[in-house]
Amino acid sequence: MMLASKIRVCGSLQPPGDKSIAHRVAILSALARGVSIIDNYAPGDDCRRTLNVLGALGVPIEHRNDQVRVSGQGYFGFRAPSSTLQAGNSGSTARMVCGLLAGQPFDSRLDGDESLRHRPMRRVIEPLGRMGAHIETYSAKDSLPLSIHGDTKRLQGIEYQPPVASAQIKTAILLAGLHAEGETLVHEPLASRNHTELALLRFGVPVEVRGTSVALRGGAPLEPTNYRLPGDISSAAFFITAAAALPGSELSVHHVGLNETRAGFLKVLQSMGAQITVEEIDETQQTGDEKVGTVRVRGSELTGTQISAEQVPALIDEVPILSIAAVLAQGETTIRGASELRLKESDRLQVIAQGLRAMGAEVEELPDGLRIGGGRRLEPARLESCGDHRMAMAWAIASLAQGGECEIVGKNCVGISYPGFWKELARLTS
Ligand code: S3P
Repeated sequence: MMLASKIRVCGSLQPPGDKSIAHRVAILSALARGVSIIDNYAPGDDCRRTLNVLGALGVPIEHRNDQVRVSGQGYFGFRAPSSTLQAGNSGSTARMVCGLLAGQPFDSRLDGDESLRHRPMRRVIEPLGRMGAHIETYSAKDSLPLSIHGDTKRLQGIEYQPPVASAQIKTAILLAGLHAEGETLVHEPLASRNHTELALLRFGVPVEVRGTSVALRGGAPLEPTNYRLPGDISSAAFFITAAAALPGSELSVHHVGLNETRAGFLKVLQSMGAQITVEEIDETQQTGDEKVGTVRVRGSELTGTQISAEQVPALIDEVPILSIAAVLAQGETTIRGASELRLKESDRLQVIAQGLRAMGAEVEELPDGLRIGGGRRLEPARLESCGDHRMAMAWAIASLAQGGECEIVGKNCVGISYPGFWKELARLTS
């Protein structure tokens, strides 16, 4: 049965610099002593927030086009901020900055937008507290705003098992661990993305990785470095999935990150029958051991699949777009072990279920996932982004597949991660 509209996604795409890696490389550059140059810096608001926070901490930063020059001042070269640090919508900025400032001798205050104020911070406050940090919150929910009270006493390394696989938690602890005495060890229940570990190695910090555990010793000096960010696979995911699910499409995506702890959705699409080929190219000199390559996609009919808890960390941000693939596929798709999705920029499980139902799809919302029946004709609907950039982009692809008659409420939030998204969508579908 042919369900998709006649629209195809064709052409060649260079996605913007990776958002996830950008936060890390900016922060580590600030901790190094000397100038680091970051090329292809991620253009979204989230990554600008991280630079602004570092600037407010006295780190000289020049940001021109997509190049960022950070004059790192070393571990204790930051100055107390004169006002509240603003993380905007960026959970990564908020969690990582807590780890960065936990071991600093001065007081700071951190806040975010309405959405970020609803997101959990206890997950970083608790382990950082165990290391000796003093973080104060003002709401029963232990969310933003919060104050990090400075102390001249050094933090102590810890051995910690986060209750969930989260690269943001792991990164916050490792950043605090850099400032701490002794060893810091994080044992994750499942491996989350390893960008922090790779970036630390690139800055000359010895990091030991064993299975899903990572360890470092505090005090290692960071060497400044030059770094070119790979294209963001999570941004590319919207176009890759659209091309894979819309027969007649032909798309090639260049210089895109292929880190396996991050690009799990490619394998899922392949298991759904998608025609995707991946060609790695050696750019490790520039990208600090992050794999990069070309992804080529040809549109075809997809079939439903099962996504289990073990697969979720490597595709955590791709559940919205995979749900669109599921609704376009033949048969049923089940996604389990994804309750973390309820704690993102929106409750993504609920927002996906509501939107797909509005389009006439058969969807069951589970406590930790979704059951999606594919193969129905999609109807025009009003689709709410709920201010969530990844939902707005997933709805754009759903609307495209439907025939372009949907209204997407709150389109502009794509600027959080992919300001050029709407232009690229128009170019690749014209
Ligand atoms: C991120 C990790 C993920 C992801 C987020 C970015 C990161 O969050 O959802 O968009 O850059 O470390 P968690 O690891 O906390 O689930």
